[in-house]
Amino acid sequence: MKVYVTKNYEDLSKKAATIILSQVVLNPYSVLGLATGSTPIGTYKYLVEFYKNKEIDFSNVISINLDEYKGIASENNQSYRYFMDNHLFKHINIKMENTYIPDGLASDDDKECKRYNDLITSLGGIDLQLLGIGVNGHIGFNEPSEYLEKYVHCVALSQSTIDVNSRFFNNIDEVPKYAYSMGVKNIMSSNKILLLVSGKSKAKALYDCLYGPITTMNPSSILQLHKDLTIVSDEDAFSVIKQKV
Ligand code: GLP
Repeated sequence: MKVYVTKNYEDLSKKAATIILSQVVLNPYSVLGLATGSTPIGTYKYLVEFYKNKEIDFSNVISINLDEYKGIASENNQSYRYFMDNHLFKHINIKMENTYIPDGLASDDDKECKRYNDLITSLGGIDLQLLGIGVNGHIGFNEPSEYLEKYVHCVALSQSTIDVNSRFFNNIDEVPKYAYSMGVKNIMSSNKILLLVSGKSKAKALYDCLYGPITTMNPSSILQLHKDLTIVSDEDAFSVIKQKV
């Protein structure tokens, strides 16, 4: 496991983008597992900057996102498709047909999950998976639970996630109650994982992720078992570890 602690969010974003840049330079045909949420926004900003400076070429890159809200159209500005298009894809030379996100409007959950799962397999798996973490330890939308799903599944979001994500919506009733998400086996099968953690509100989650017991009640704790995990944390997110370890 490698851990980089940066001074602030800006440095975290630059470091994370540089790690992704190295991945793509070494393998221009990389399959990148991408994430949404506020944490990777700065990373995407730097990737766009690297692209504009001709330091990175996405023409052969394939991206596959972790998750998508169920019941939201791709044009809706709350969809993860909209987020990815606007923060990254529209500004770089990735081929849009090489960008994959679950279909939030799929009519048959089982079919959509199978389609997306088969897609990951047909791409030959994920070379580098970018991850954020929920304050409750969720990764993707794998919520704390008695058991964890291995593969792509439709999940009922926990009240804590609905509450936290409501900041992006006009009101809490607009927050979708379900999502499609990769399962923990999909995530853990990636060759590399890059976990980004920023801010004091995530400090306890990061401590539990790395030092807590490995339990389904904290999905992120399974990352302790990954063979090639890199964490980029800012000082705020690292504060509980600094204090306790
Ligand atoms: C969302 C996403 C996760 C993300 C997490 C943290 O619910 N499904 O993939 O990592 O929340 O988001 P943020 O970075 O905004 O704290």
